Amino acid sequence: MSNWKLKSAVVPVTGAASGIGLALCKLLRAEGATPAMIDVNRDRLLFAASEVYGSAEEAARHAYAVDVCNSHAIDACFEEILHTHGPTTHAVAGAGIVGPSNVLTDTDEQWHRVIDVNLNGAMYFCRAAARQMVAAKRGGAIVTIASIAGLKAKENRASYATSKAALINLTRALALDLGGFGIRVNALAPGVIDTPIQNSNRTTLDVVAETIPLKRIGVSDEIANGVLFLLSTYASYVTGETLVIDGGLTAKYR
Ligand SMILES: NC(=O)c1ccc[n+]([C@@H]2O[C@H](COP(=O)([O-])OP(=O)(O)OC[C@H]3O[C@@H](n4cnc5c(N)ncnc54)[C@H](O)[C@@H]3O)[C@@H](O)[C@H]2O)c1
Repeated sequence: MSNWKLKSAVVPVTGAASGIGLALCKLLRAEGATPAMIDVNRDRLLFAASEVYGSAEEAARHAYAVDVCNSHAIDACFEEILHTHGPTTHAVAGAGIVGPSNVLTDTDEQWHRVIDVNLNGAMYFCRAAARQMVAAKRGGAIVTIASIAGLKAKENRASYATSKAALINLTRALALDLGGFGIRVNALAPGVIDTPIQNSNRTTLDVVAETIPLKRIGVSDEIANGVLFLLSTYASYVTGETLVIDGGLTAKYR
């Protein structure tokens, strides 16, 4: 076990059923923390929670099938976490979706769906986490999972790039509003990571890999490690920051 000092942390994580969120929950569990696993996909969530917690009974005690777009359900979820596991000490807003999006062809519904999950959902989640942390008066740390698409735009990803850029500035705003309570808030911006959200075949990913300075796409554990750092006391003077983990992709001129 490494020494991230997260042993008795209670950590709600959204997007916990898959990819980066699941890898993070496994790491948090290995550190002795208690990840509260939140995801909209109930079946996949219960399967993921049993990977993290072993028995089906323990999985059910730590799994919360909630849509982040439903702010009332998110508030209720935090009440349940408080009741079952104690006050939230750290939180990670990881849930996200991507979809083709072009400013000429997007329907209102397509646009709103991505903004709703990636931005509004993250806001509802961070707000509920922050309220519980402030009430507990013990400080804490929140991480949002943004994207390098929030730093640079990309063709046919208008809604996603916009949602992630706004999420990065929401993270800064949260850092300002919560700093006086000893709560740090940071964003992590992954590059191209091998998870189901990519929805690309191996050949396409191999072509993308060649454009990355490290000549490969990343894996979920490499993002989870960065999140652990930002949550931990090793990042005790880091807030309002965006940590880019992208194999050097955004360091390039072209
Ligand atoms: N994989 C990448 O290359 C990459 C790059 C940059 C940023 N990201 C971001 O990382 C985060 C995690 O993505 P991932 O790569 O692990 O993808 P993933 O598809 O494996 O996981 C995303 C999870 O979010 C859940 N989710 C979606 N909508 C939800 C909702 N309304 N409420 C609750 N849960 C919901 C999904 O069910 C899924 O389990 C996302 O925010 C994504 O935008 C990923």
